[in-house]
Amino acid sequence: MFPRTLPQPEILSVDGLPTLRWGIIGPGWIADRFAAAFRHHTRQQLVAVAGRNLDKTTAFAGRWDIPRIFTEASEMLALKDLDVVYVATPHNHHFPDAMKVLQAGKHVLVEKPLALNAQEGAKLQQEARARKLFCLEGMWCDFTPKYDVLRQLLENGDLGDLHTLIADHGEYFTPDHRIFNPDLAGGPMLDLGSYLISLSITVAGSVPAQVLAQGQPAPGGVNGQASMLFTHHNGMHSVLNTTLFSRTPSGAVIAGRDATLSLNGHFYAPGDFTLASSEGNQLLHWKDKGGHYEQLSYEIEHTAWCIGQGLTESPIRPLETSLMTLSTMDNVRRQLGIVFNEERQD
Ligand SMILES: NC(=O)c1ccc[n+]([C@@H]2O[C@H](COP(=O)([O-])OP(=O)(O)OC[C@H]3O[C@@H](n4cnc5c(N)ncnc54)[C@H](OP(=O)(O)O)[C@@H]3O)[C@@H](O)[C@H]2O)c1
Repeated sequence: MFPRTLPQPEILSVDGLPTLRWGIIGPGWIADRFAAAFRHHTRQQLVAVAGRNLDKTTAFAGRWDIPRIFTEASEMLALKDLDVVYVATPHNHHFPDAMKVLQAGKHVLVEKPLALNAQEGAKLQQEARARKLFCLEGMWCDFTPKYDVLRQLLENGDLGDLHTLIADHGEYFTPDHRIFNPDLAGGPMLDLGSYLISLSITVAGSVPAQVLAQGQPAPGGVNGQASMLFTHHNGMHSVLNTTLFSRTPSGAVIAGRDATLSLNGHFYAPGDFTLASSEGNQLLHWKDKGGHYEQLSYEIEHTAWCIGQGLTESPIRPLETSLMTLSTMDNVRRQLGIVFNEERQD
């Protein structure tokens, strides 16, 4: 039956959240947005930053009032008064950087994707478990109120039997962007595609039973775009496209027997959505209240809450979900012949 109202998002209370001492590795583009959300929308402490370029790292620390600056991450990780580290380096540095953080005895929040492939991801999971440390992939949308409501609608079965997910994520990048660099695991898959594949796994509840993919290279040798058709165990299809050639709407539609959920605008970011009954005569609208990247604060506070609870994994995004996302991307990449430098045997 079509719901009378949308579920209320469960918002974490900041009362009783531990105030943790955070460090950052990789003061780049997303780290700037993370630090802004951190400073303006949380009560956490940003105590140190490590970057390979002293001038850039000093400027970053100045912008966000961070007292300690390091050009070697290992020196930052030796600090005793540091609880948790946010890894915001390029994709192929996530695994070695997150491993260093765990081996130094600190909790870790790793930018998406958790690692280059499922094998690396599983090693991080083992290390975190062995050391009883918290490890989370920063798939930031999962921690926003919008995605909480989306998950509740799916869990309540409000859409009825699910038939189809259609989603895309395409952005335009200037040729000097790291996404074209084969030495930084370039291509759209790990940057943009990880959101698509993660959503497909969230909606279907498991990895696809069958994967069909077609790709097209970009100048310079990295993959330029990929179109994917997944068949899930429940018969649901996911039809997905990611490209770095053009800006595409980047919306998503989740269609069930009883209702259709349309995430207009960027499905992976804060924004509005509509739930429409299959007859089309009943509509419910989600209007997002918060700004865009300031909602990175939700993953920051969720991390602090989990660590305060003594958890090693997030109940919202357990590492198993990250590993399912990685293994599905591995599957797609096998079909497209995409091999990252770190995976080459020769
Ligand atoms: N959650 C989101 O919405 C979101 C959005 C964008 C990106 N991301 C993720 O965040 C990660 C970083 O993306 P970004 O766009 O912030 O990248 P970026 O601007 O290039 O920043 C990367 C940072 O890592 C440092 N770095 C360390 N080793 C490096 C190496 N060998 N080559 C290049 N840089 C190196 C860079 O150093 P320098 O400071 O010396 O350049 C820079 O500080 C990616 O994995 C991406 O998937 C997430």
